[in-house]
Formats: sequence, C-alpha cells, structure tokens
Amino acid sequence: MRLNRFANKHIVLGVTGSIATYKAVALASALVQAEARVNVLMTEAATKMVQPLSFQAITHRPVLTDMFSLMAETEIGHVTLGKTADAFLIAPTTANTIAKLALGLADNLLTTTALAATCPIIVAPAMETNMWYHPATQTHIATLRERGVHIVEPEAGHLASGAKGVGRLASQERILTTLRRVLTPQDWAGRRIVITAGGTREAIDPVRFISNHSSGAMGYAMAEAALDRGAHVTLITTARHLSPPEGATIVPVESARQMRDAVLDAIQDAHALFMAAAVADYRPADAAAQKIKKSDADLILRLVRNPDVLADVKQVRPPHLVVVGWAAETDNLIENARQKLMRKGLDLIVANPVPQSFGDGRVQATLIPRKGEPNPLEPMPKEVLAHVILDAVKPLVQRHSPDQKE
Ligand code: CTP
Repeated sequence: MRLNRFANKHIVLGVTGSIATYKAVALASALVQAEARVNVLMTEAATKMVQPLSFQAITHRPVLTDMFSLMAETEIGHVTLGKTADAFLIAPTTANTIAKLALGLADNLLTTTALAATCPIIVAPAMETNMWYHPATQTHIATLRERGVHIVEPEAGHLASGAKGVGRLASQERILTTLRRVLTPQDWAGRRIVITAGGTREAIDPVRFISNHSSGAMGYAMAEAALDRGAHVTLITTARHLSPPEGATIVPVESARQMRDAVLDAIQDAHALFMAAAVADYRPADAAAQKIKKSDADLILRLVRNPDVLADVKQVRPPHLVVVGWAAETDNLIENARQKLMRKGLDLIVANPVPQSFGDGRVQATLIPRKGEPNPLEPMPKEVLAHVILDAVKPLVQRHSPDQKE
C-alpha cells in the first residue's frame, strides 16, 4: 500500500521573476516525479531568469508565458487552467505579483489565471527582507490569507543582496507539505490531538542515560498524517534528531516523568491521545548530580519504577478523550496486546510484533479495538499506517465528540 497525494493531480505552477526562479525548476521536477501533471505559467520577468525550455523539458508540456501563447494553446483553453486544476501553486512569488493578486489585477497570464481560478491557490513569496516586511506587502499577504490563499512563509537566511534576513523562498519540503495538505481531505479539521513520540531518557548522571531503540518515527508519522488531515497536533517528543512537523506544537521532554506531566497537561482539551512513545518502565533510583567517575569497583545501578503514563491518564481522563496505545510484543501478540488495552483502559491498541523483520521501514500491525475484532493489516510504511490508524480512530472521536458540521 502506498500513499501519494500528488499522483494524477493537476498542478498549475506559476513562476515569477526572482533570484529564486531557478528553484522552481527543482520544484516542477519533484512534482513530476511524484506523478503530478504540471502546467507551468511564467511571467515575462521569470523568463529572463530561467528559460521556459527548462520547465518544458521537465514537465513534457508547453510552458505558457503570455496571453497570446494561451490563446494559441487551444487544447488548454483560455483561463480554464485555474478552474480545472487541483491547485495553483505560485513559487516563487515576487512582492509585485503579491500586490497584483491582492488587488485583483490581471495584467498577465499568471495573474489572469489566478483571478479566474476556482482551485486552491498557494503563494510562496521570495524577496528582500525590507520588501517582505513593508506594510504594503504585509497588508497584501493578510488580504490574500483572508481570501483563503495559502501562504508558505519565506525563510530567514542568505539573500541575493548578500544580506541575511527573512525573504528566502521556503524550502521545497515546506512548499510541498503545504501543497500536500491542500490536496488532502480535511477530515480531522477542528480536532485537537496529542501524540507522544520516541523513547524516554532516564538520567544516570548529567552525561549518561538509559533509553531504548525507539526512533520516534511512528509518532512523527502520526503527527504528519494528522496535520495533513487538518488536526491541531501537540507532539510530546524525546526525538531531537527528527525535524518537527510543520504546524505542530512541539513539547520536548526527556524522562517518563516529564512525559507524564506534559501528557496530563495537554489532554485537558484534546479529543484524542496517541501514545506512540516507548516509555521506560524503570529509571535509576538516584541520578547523580555530578558525572560518575570510574573506579575499579563494579557499578551497580538500582532502578525504580517509572509512572505508567497511560495508567495515570486513565485516572483523570476527560470522558470524551479517545485513547490509543501501542504494544510491541515478542510473543502472544494479540492476547498480550488485548490485555494491555483492557488494563490501560484504551479505546484501541496498535499491536506489532518485535522484531520487525522487513528491513525496509514497513511494519505489520494489528489494530485491536476495545469493541470489535482485531484487524490484522498487511505490512506497510509507518506513513501509511498512520493514516489507517486515523481512519480507525475517526469514528470513535466522532462518537465521543460529535462534530456539528457532520
Ligand atoms: N506506556 C506508558 N507508560 C509506561 C510504559 C508504557 O504510558 N511507563 C504506554 C506506551 O506508550 C504504549 C503502551 O503503554 O502505548 C504499552 O507500552 P508497553 O511498553 O508495550 O507496555 P508496558 O505497560 O510497559 O508493558 P511491558 O513492558 O511489561 O510489556
């Protein structure tokens, strides 16, 4: 099973004239590789920075540059692009084009297409810092936002002028994340969820700790999937090596006790908790304040029990909160997982055998609901599993907290 939101989507890529124009070539390439159908529109200024031929070679489609080329291109048709496309992505967008979009000017093919567009529009600005922070630009950006245009904020860094500041075109990853979310049904919109990720670290002394092999990847995949589907996500994480999912509220923690406190705090107004973290059951009884020096004698660590986060959640959980746990088991997978589900008062548990032997990042999970039969799933990447879990949990959330809109 595979998940590719871009496959067979029709994306209009509008390109304006900026030093960052060349980056749009890589963007077009990434979209084509992701199996999207890409039509490129360029302003005249953009054609001064990059030859239309570059885009044409990558997209295998004619590049439209002016009103006349549009008229000539009968198979595409006048201003229909923005009506038939799944999304209109303008990257990079200059301050000049942003102003035109906000004012509703239609003096070239790109702005005309935007004005006639009925599909979602995504704008990724790129300009010098002073232009970005100019009240005119900021007012135009606010106007576009109010109209539902998705803005991929520029980033701080080295600018064409040699100066450092905000104005660089957002990374390709951020632009594609925004586009992916625009293309994803927002069936978790308005839902607040809490996700834990990673293995907790239990201090031995200021430089050493006990932990486990959990990478945090499952929790991060859950966060990405939920954000894509419109949820508000609080991610309580020990995984410092993973880049934070765009738009998530990140709560960094280390130990089981810190994670417990963060979870109890975050679930107060949440609809669902996904406890994907591998919480250490034990911690060193006394973490040394100073670095422990070696000696010839053996070192014996006494371990004491950590709190069970889910057991504590069970004590205080608001009645509408849906709680999902994970169980990694070496034997009696279903039976052990089901016992955990009952003991910890969960609504659903994701059971997976240890060790996983696929070696390609896929996991073979069985979803066990509190009520109903276990659902053994085929091996799949964590990114896909995250969506399958959200599909299974959605009706439970809906039952506990009916959405007025549905
Ligand atoms: N969990 C927790 N607090 C702990 C240990 C685990 O909240 N101190 C959560 C995990 O995040 C997971 C679920 O409980 O969602 C099951 O974790 P697991 O380690 O499999 O279960 P344990 O209760 O620790 O049981 P055991 O280690 O004996 O199998």
